[in-house]
Amino acid sequence: MDREYRVGLVGCGHIAGSHLRGWNRAHGGKVAGVLDLDRALASGLARKFGVENVYDDLHELLDDCDVVDICTPPQSHAAILTSAIEAGRQPVIEKPVVIDIAEWEVLVDRIRAAELELPVAHHMKFTRSFQKCKQWLDQGRIGRLLRIDWQFMTSRDTDRMLTADTHWSHELPGGRWFETLPHNLYGIHHFCGAMELASVTACRTAEAPRGAPADEVVVVLERAGTVATLHFSANCRLNQRKVTLTGSTGVITIDLLSDLAWLTRAKDSKLGRALGRSLIESGRAVISMSVDRPMYLLDHLRRRSPHVQFIAAADRSFRGVGPPPTPFEEIDYVTRYCHRIGKEIESQLLGCAASTS
Ligand SMILES: NC(=O)c1ccc[n+]([C@@H]2O[C@H](COP(=O)([O-])OP(=O)(O)OC[C@H]3O[C@@H](n4cnc5c(N)ncnc54)[C@H](O)[C@@H]3O)[C@@H](O)[C@H]2O)c1
Repeated sequence: MDREYRVGLVGCGHIAGSHLRGWNRAHGGKVAGVLDLDRALASGLARKFGVENVYDDLHELLDDCDVVDICTPPQSHAAILTSAIEAGRQPVIEKPVVIDIAEWEVLVDRIRAAELELPVAHHMKFTRSFQKCKQWLDQGRIGRLLRIDWQFMTSRDTDRMLTADTHWSHELPGGRWFETLPHNLYGIHHFCGAMELASVTACRTAEAPRGAPADEVVVVLERAGTVATLHFSANCRLNQRKVTLTGSTGVITIDLLSDLAWLTRAKDSKLGRALGRSLIESGRAVISMSVDRPMYLLDHLRRRSPHVQFIAAADRSFRGVGPPPTPFEEIDYVTRYCHRIGKEIESQLLGCAASTS
């Protein structure tokens, strides 16, 4: 691709601003225009980010742009992606890439045939906490990785997708969790490689909101003696988004909402027990956090968000000066396992409905 190229963004909702902020800082990509089914929304966003054009339809955007950044709900991704590929345009896309595995099989062939990249906004890999965690794992700081426990414990009080009575995420396979599953799966893939699905337990309680018909879900994955669990709850007001990686010699904890990672390696000893191992570990965590927070705040003030860094990586890759931000193997793994897990939740819900009717 040329050193300078034109970007058209489709879908001007919640996440679009994070992408435009990224493109406004990219070296090669310049935003030519935006498009949304809701033209007023697109015009407002264009004004806010100094974007010149608001397109009336996708073909107008495709005629005018080299890169199509797809920020619409996942139900519309396959159709827009197909049009972009047919027009020979380079896509960038939000996760989940598609909602149906049959659509994915067709797209994989088309993307390969067109020799295009597929940067997917797996943006958490660009957070400070993920990068620190990966570095500690690669340095062997917690020994052999034994467990990854990922908690996405939320409720209608705090989760914008569950609060709404109608939201597109409710119609995804298995409901709202499908929207966030890519984060869990590429995170696990990033830390440990492709894990196999061992089991899915999906419970439906009387309180289940419309968006999460299985309101308590646990997914178990396994690879070479490392076990990962994903916990989803729609009944937890703590709004906890936390990952714990337990190794043979230490533990890494990630607080996702604060983008904070800390390492604890307190050895078992009589003195440690007497002083309180949790107290010692908390003290060490506080020290490491106090070093981290100023750096985090600096990034925040500079608006160097993970999405901005994801777009910067895609931009480098388009200009031939960096690798693709999301390797194809990772996208393929995430897409296939999102599908398997979503479908398994759906089938367990059907089983529940059949047994109570
Ligand atoms: N990476 C992340 O952390 C992150 C965070 C939030 C959302 N997302 C993803 O981003 C995507 C969008 O999510 P959102 O929360 O911004 O949704 P949203 O509902 O806020 O916005 C989507 C917009 O797309 C528009 N739209 C829908 N179909 C369209 C079409 N065919 N053509 C043009 N415009 C169309 C809608 O009118 C709406 O304005 C989803 O895939 C979601 O999973 C990712």
